[in-house]
Amino acid sequence: MPMTDLLSLQKNFIKAHLGPGDRAVDFTMGNGYDTVFLSQLVGPAGEVTAFDIQPAALRSTAENLAKNNCPDNWRLICASHHRAKEFVTGKIKAGMFNLGYLPGAGNKKLTTMRTTTLPAVQNALEMLDDGGVLLVAVYPGHPEGALEGEELVKYFGTISRFQYSIAQFRMLNSPESPFFMVIEKKE
Ligand SMILES: C[S@@+](CC[C@H](N)C(=O)[O-])C[C@H]1O[C@@H](n2cnc3c(N)ncnc32)[C@H](O)[C@@H]1O
Repeated sequence: MPMTDLLSLQKNFIKAHLGPGDRAVDFTMGNGYDTVFLSQLVGPAGEVTAFDIQPAALRSTAENLAKNNCPDNWRLICASHHRAKEFVTGKIKAGMFNLGYLPGAGNKKLTTMRTTTLPAVQNALEMLDDGGVLLVAVYPGHPEGALEGEELVKYFGTISRFQYSIAQFRMLNSPESPFFMVIEKKE
């Protein structure tokens, strides 16, 4: 895998923290590629809850899960991710945010917004189990994505290093390329 494939690289962090029987959340379901990835990692004894505000995302993800013969360990919720605590009981070992809009035929106006992304990420940090990991991928190539990224970077800079380790992975010579942040909750 080339180092520049940052979005594939992020999956390695999930694999290092998530295993059979664990609980995980896909905070931005989209077409379900991340939901499939999480479902296969946690296996039949695990649990994956995925959120999106667009019914089209739920349809597309259900098809993707079936096509990939995923175990019966997932729930698809049509609600904003800032409400995740209403639907997920107990701590999670991993969470993924792939911010932005639904790729393909989706409505590009239905992108993630700072007003809900920030509370959703704050809640996700609280939901994280000791030794758990959160991945947040940002697409700064569109205006809301750029602002969302700036606010998240600022917010993560305020979090206690004694409770969480937080790193950013970004192409320095391609500032509009997607980048991601890894948040690990210390044991
Ligand atoms: C870049 S896509 C996610 C890609 C996806 N993880 C995949 O594997 O295909 C971002 C998704 O976030 C969704 N979204 C936007 N606002 C949201 C919100 N407040 N809560 C949950 N999902 C939201 C969009 O509808 C879109 O489907």
